[in-house]
Amino acid sequence: MSESRIHNAALRGKIMSAGEAAALVRPGDNIGVSGFTGSGHPKEVPQALARRIEAAHERGEDFRVGIWTGASTAPEMDGVLFKVDGVSFRTPYQSDPNCRNRINGGDAFYVDEHLSEVAQNAAWGHYGKLDVALIEIVAILEDGRLVPSTSVGNNPMWLDLAERVILEVNTGLNAQLEGMHDIYSTGLPPHRRPIPIVKVDDRIGEPYLRVDPRKVVAVVETDRPDRDTQFSAPDEKSRLIAGHILDFLQYEVKKGRIPANLLPLQSGVGNVANAVMAGLNEGPYENLSAYTEVLQDGMLDMIRSGKLAMASATAVSLSKTALVDFNVNISEYRKRIILRPQEVSNHPEIVRRLGIISMNGMLEADIYGNVNSTHVLGSKMMNGLGGSGDFARNAYLSIFMTPSLAKNGALSCIVPMVSHVDHTEHDVQVLVTEHGLADLRGLAPRQRAKRVIEKCADPRLRPALSDYLARAEKTANGQQTPHLLGEAFDWHLRALRGEPM
Ligand code: COA
Repeated sequence: MSESRIHNAALRGKIMSAGEAAALVRPGDNIGVSGFTGSGHPKEVPQALARRIEAAHERGEDFRVGIWTGASTAPEMDGVLFKVDGVSFRTPYQSDPNCRNRINGGDAFYVDEHLSEVAQNAAWGHYGKLDVALIEIVAILEDGRLVPSTSVGNNPMWLDLAERVILEVNTGLNAQLEGMHDIYSTGLPPHRRPIPIVKVDDRIGEPYLRVDPRKVVAVVETDRPDRDTQFSAPDEKSRLIAGHILDFLQYEVKKGRIPANLLPLQSGVGNVANAVMAGLNEGPYENLSAYTEVLQDGMLDMIRSGKLAMASATAVSLSKTALVDFNVNISEYRKRIILRPQEVSNHPEIVRRLGIISMNGMLEADIYGNVNSTHVLGSKMMNGLGGSGDFARNAYLSIFMTPSLAKNGALSCIVPMVSHVDHTEHDVQVLVTEHGLADLRGLAPRQRAKRVIEKCADPRLRPALSDYLARAEKTANGQQTPHLLGEAFDWHLRALRGEPM
């Protein structure tokens, strides 16, 4: 462990081991944990807590906790706690296999909410009382202010609400993160304050978190790194999807509907999103900006190349190689990156004001443009909604993308009716697969259906989808959104039975 970063005398007196800190958690506690897409989560106390829970279970004792986070964390947080069946309740977005299995196995309740709304829902008591905040930071200043880590998430709210606070001070993360953050609280209704961001690079708060030192019961030191996010090189389908989006954006610029440097970009997680960023990096753009949730490798490349002038997010989630570059050049990146609470990074007020171009992945879309981002075959949770709804509903352009087929061709991602709806047709303007891009703006449902089938569906499945639509139109006899309710889910039922499309 390198030199201590705990400069406040009172909090220095609370330094203890992870095991001792974990002993301060009680069975049934709700814990507000830092962490967003594998960055900024606590690394030591969750593991010690998992060992304690496991031992309690071996003695036949009931010991489970509620976990409220920013978004997904990592194996040493969600992974270990869910592995020992230590979590009874979890919100919001997750992506850990142990966590997903417990949720889908019926062992834990999972509340999947818009990321911008989680802090206020917690403040209103929707998830119960917050007993403990377990927050990773990179330093404690002499006056007790906290230097946030690689993600902000819901940390300000967890620190406010919790009865007891455990801080993990991570000396393995760069101390020069200090100054990258912009912490601002919207307050709660009535008389909630406006969020005065009118440009991506506006700073409206202060770069530190604050906590009442009397609530801090433990300070634990660690030097473990964040989870490094693995990105594979974009495959052929991702490149094709990215190509369609880039052509579309270029066309919109030509038409004068968006400026030459586009509008602020929001990009979801994953390889397709990174492929789009790679394409933009090679495109004819200058002075781009991003108002997004997670900053991944693709955006870092664009900052380095000078294409991306400014990025606002709530977390930095990078591969090992990108992390090296981030740490070496952090003083430069600090001028180009602002990390905000997720209430602000994802806030509908700002998304609508700035006119975001929002690009997110999906599991499936139906011919009318309703999108399922979360539930495999209607019932099984994949990851969660994340910030996709915060952005999609309020964006200037809301784009959803997927390969046209999933599971080695066994499933069509374009179906007559989605098996679960996260984004309704009203919030979805553009659908993209490797086959093409369906611009649905200004189209009525029956027009949308024809375009989605023609542009996005796998060519071998277009006749079956067109046949469904034609028979539905005939039966519905001119109704607004024709469906054959008796067979709308046949595509999913065939998949469940393991039959070909
Ligand atoms: N039916 C069933 N499973 C499907 C499917 C479908 N129609 N489409 C994809 N899948 C499966 C894939 O087979 C894959 O499964 P595997 O991990 O077991 O191989 C998995 O879903 C992921 O699909 P992939 O094609 O690799 O896409 P992705 O990594 O881009 O993820 C989502 C797609 C929808 C899961 C992901 O974008 C997501 O979680 N979105 C919701 C949150 C979000 O949008 N966040 C960003 C907001 S800022």
